[in-house]
This record gives sequence, C-alpha cells and structure tokens, in this order.
Amino acid sequence: MAENNFEKKILCIGAGYVGGPTMAMIAAKCPQYKVTVVDINEKRIKSWQTDELPIYEPGLLEVVKKARGRNLFFSTKVKENIKEADIIFVSVNTPTKEYGQGAGKSADLQYLEKTARDILSASESDKIIVEKSTVPVRTAEAMERILGSNDKNLKFEMVSNPEFLAEGTAVEDLQSPDRVLIGSRETASGIKARQEIVNIYKNWVPEERILTCDVWSSELSKLVANAFLAQRISSINSISALCEKTEADISKVSRSLATDSRIGSKFLNASVGFGGSCFKKDILNLVYICEYYGLDEVASYWESVVNINKYQESRFVKKMLGAMFNTVAKKHIALFGFAFKANTGDTRESPAIAVTRELVEERAKVVISDPQAISNAKWDLEDILDKVNFEEDPYKAAKGAAGIAILTEWDLYKTLDYKKLYDSMEKPAFIFDGRNILNHQELYEIGFNVYPLGKRALTHF
Ligand code: NAD
Ligand code: UGA
Repeated sequence: MAENNFEKKILCIGAGYVGGPTMAMIAAKCPQYKVTVVDINEKRIKSWQTDELPIYEPGLLEVVKKARGRNLFFSTKVKENIKEADIIFVSVNTPTKEYGQGAGKSADLQYLEKTARDILSASESDKIIVEKSTVPVRTAEAMERILGSNDKNLKFEMVSNPEFLAEGTAVEDLQSPDRVLIGSRETASGIKARQEIVNIYKNWVPEERILTCDVWSSELSKLVANAFLAQRISSINSISALCEKTEADISKVSRSLATDSRIGSKFLNASVGFGGSCFKKDILNLVYICEYYGLDEVASYWESVVNINKYQESRFVKKMLGAMFNTVAKKHIALFGFAFKANTGDTRESPAIAVTRELVEERAKVVISDPQAISNAKWDLEDILDKVNFEEDPYKAAKGAAGIAILTEWDLYKTLDYKKLYDSMEKPAFIFDGRNILNHQELYEIGFNVYPLGKRALTHF
C-alpha cells in the first residue's frame, strides 16, 4: 500500500516484550494501518528486522513476518516517526525506582517522561497518546501536564490501555485476550479518542471483551490485576510450607480449591516463587501509592505478598541445605531452568537468581542449565561468574552432581531420562522439584531422595 493510503499511522515507542508483540499483532490484524515501532536501543531494532527476534516468544516470528515490510516497521528514528503518527502507544519500561524518594518501591517514570517530552518537541499535529506501559494510578495526569505545556496549540488526548499479556503465551493472549481495557477522560474529546482505540481492537477482538472506563480506573486495574494474580501464588506457596509440616499434599489442596467455581483453577501452582519483570515491581508500586495516601494497613497487606515470595525462595534453599546434611559447600548442584517461567528466555526477577546466589553463598558449585535463558543468566550473575558454570545440556550439567533442583517448568525436564541422570550422579542423589512437575514416586524408585514442594519428601534414609 502506498504510504499515504494507510487509514491511520500508529507509532509505538518502546520495542520490548510488550511493544514488539502488541504492535506485530495490530499490524497483522489491521493491514489498513501503518504500524511503526521505535526504540533508542539500536541492537533491539536491528533484531526485530531479522528472523532472530530480540525476545523468545512462541509463534511471534510468524506474526511479525506476516506484516513486516508490509505495514509493520521497526526504526530508531523516534522524532521523525512521532511527527507523522496519528496515535502513539507508549510502551517504555517503568522499573522500580532505585534512587531518591520512593527508592525500592515507587515506579521510575523517567523513561515515560522522556517520551512525553520527545512527543511534545517533535509533534506538528494533534495526537492520541496511549499509555501501554504499566504506571501508577494518575500518571496520565502528569503526562497531560507535560504535553499540555506547549505553545504550538496542539491537543494531545491521553488514553490508558494497559497490557495483560503474559510472557511465553503473548501471541495467544494478544490474539484472544480475556479483555482489552481502554480508559480515558470522560469528556467528549476523551470518549472520542477512546473510541479510536476501540476501533483498532475491534478488528479482531469481540466487542464484549473491549471494556472502557475512566482513565484512573484503567491505570489502577492493571496494578490490581497483577497484585491479585501474585497474591494467589503467595497464598498457595504459604500453604505449601504448612503442607510440608503436616504431610498434607499441596496438589490435592489446590485441586480441591480449583473445583470451587468461586475460586477458579488458575494460578494455584505452588512454586519456588513467582518471578518476572512485573509482579514484584507492580505490587511495590501499589504499596508505595497506598503509603503515599496514608493507607498503611492496605500497603502492608499487599507488601506481604512480596514478603511471602522472598520467604518461599529462601525456604527452598533452606530445604536443600537441610536435606543435604546441612552443607552444600563444594557440592555440585545442577539447576534445571533459570527463566522465570517456561517458554521464555526472560530471567528478570527469576527465583533462580536468588536461589543461585544463596547456594553460592553456601559455597556450592552451581551449574546452570536452561534451553533459552543462559545468556540472560550470565548478565544476572555478572558479579559471580567465576563461581557458577553454565551448561545447556541437562545431562552434562548433572554429571557428577550431588543434587538437581528444578527451577523452571520447561516441558523438556518432564521427559528426561532420570535413570540415566541418576546413574551419572554422586550418591546419595537428591532432587528438589521447585515446580512439582516430575513423577516423584518414579524418581524415588530409581533411587533419588525426592523433595517436592508442599508434599512429603520421599527419602531412602
Ligand atoms: P522492555 O524493557 O522489554 O522494553 C522497553 C523498551 O523501551 C526498551 O527496549 C527501551 O530501550 C525502550 N525505551 C525506553 N525509553 C525510551 C525512549 N525514550 N524512546 C524510545 N525507546 C525507549 O519492557 P517491557 O517488558 O516491554 O515492558 C514495558 C511496559 O509494559 C512496562 O511498563 C511493563 O510493566 C509493562 N508490561 C510488561 C509485560 C511483560 O510481560 N513484560 C506485560 C504487561 C505490561
Ligand atoms: C504476568 C501476568 O500474568 C500478565 O497478565 C501481566 O500482563 C504481566 O505479568 C505483566 O504485567 O508483566 P508474566 O509475568 O509474563 O505475566 O507471567 P505469569 O504467567 O503471570 O507468571 C508469573 C510468575 O508466576 C512466573 O514466575 C510463574 O512461574 C509464576 N507462577 C504462575 C507460579 O508460581 N504459580 C502459578 O500458578 C502461576
């Protein structure tokens, strides 16, 4: 299609885990729009232009290939693309602030603010600005103030459209979302802008799944959705500790909860802890906002979700230590999985980071195995690279090991030849299933001492 024949020009600032996949889906579903994704990270943009995408996400390459070069473009030219866009999605990172007031809790909005200033300086026409990044409630107000401080007589309408995709299933989630949430000012111009965004999603999302509301409820709903999901994991993980003391079985407790339609079946898998770039940061952000408004009880309620997660990570290492005769010094331990969940190479806030660091503190010889996450793991452990080893092949990683710990629920680990692994290990051989994905009785029969989560250990002594 010739440049000027596109119905709309959509720009996304930020070509990360959210910007890349969401824009690829919009472009694939809507050939009538020109969709451009810009980033200041040249390397990332170059990768988006090749078949070696910068993120590992099942099915994503097919979606990208469908539209790339037709109506999907990746570029580092931020200002030039701002100028021609009708609608700008802002999908930059909003990490936890590491300095000054709110350090360790509040969101660092410097990247978001920078984009607002770039938009302001490069724009020559009115635009709709869509907050795709996860932000503290009322951030749109700050963006409006920056964008409103122009003497060019331009009008920028802020819309909130938080993203709910999960890594590893991003394509499915975008293709068929439970809901798309779009919030705006409830003025005539706000509602008109909101409708423009509804019109984009209507190309493939059934209308009853497109929810609209005011901008503050939309911003807050995103933080609360992540907090509720993480809370379920912390709830089940806290009960896994009690199961281990009482010989109750966490899988049976989860199953029983799941059959109650009021509770539902998802996010009830006990684990070594939740990771990912967002749960912890978004909950801490919520905690900070509550504290800011003097709601200390509410803040501490939500903070406990993060505290239980830390407890679970460190409880896992304590269990390994206890089982292995209270010392892992000089013992070779193979970690199966480093990604924060299966089907991604992302390791941000992965529980594997805390587990590795604690084991290294205890002077264990740690070998890390993962099918996708080894290069990210090397970044995460940059300061202790001389104390850990990496080996993609799980059989090689576990050769001569005293213990294996499953930290990511990759399918690959469910189908390994555990007899072969056992035969190659030091005896007594231990296995710690931090995801409860293995057949524990079978492992026990092979000869392993087996430590599941929230279930009775199966040991030979
Ligand atoms: P990311 O770090 O992968 O990507 C952000 C990108 O923005 C980076 O490539 C960075 O270079 C770019 N960027 C920063 N400042 C820029 C600027 N001024 N101009 C151009 N590019 C700039 O982050 P992400 O995981 O995609 O997350 C983005 C937002 O979406 C965050 O607010 C996050 O909380 C939210 N979110 C993430 C997920 C997820 O699964 N990762 C899901 C839902 C929501
Ligand atoms: C999560 C949310 O699910 C998305 O809706 C949201 O958009 C996203 O955060 C975000 O805002 O970034 P994500 O972190 O990619 O998505 O992955 P999840 O599937 O939610 O898993 C998060 C963590 O919880 C993983 O470490 C996973 O292993 C763990 N988990 C999940 C459990 O330990 N038990 C469970 O039952 C489910």
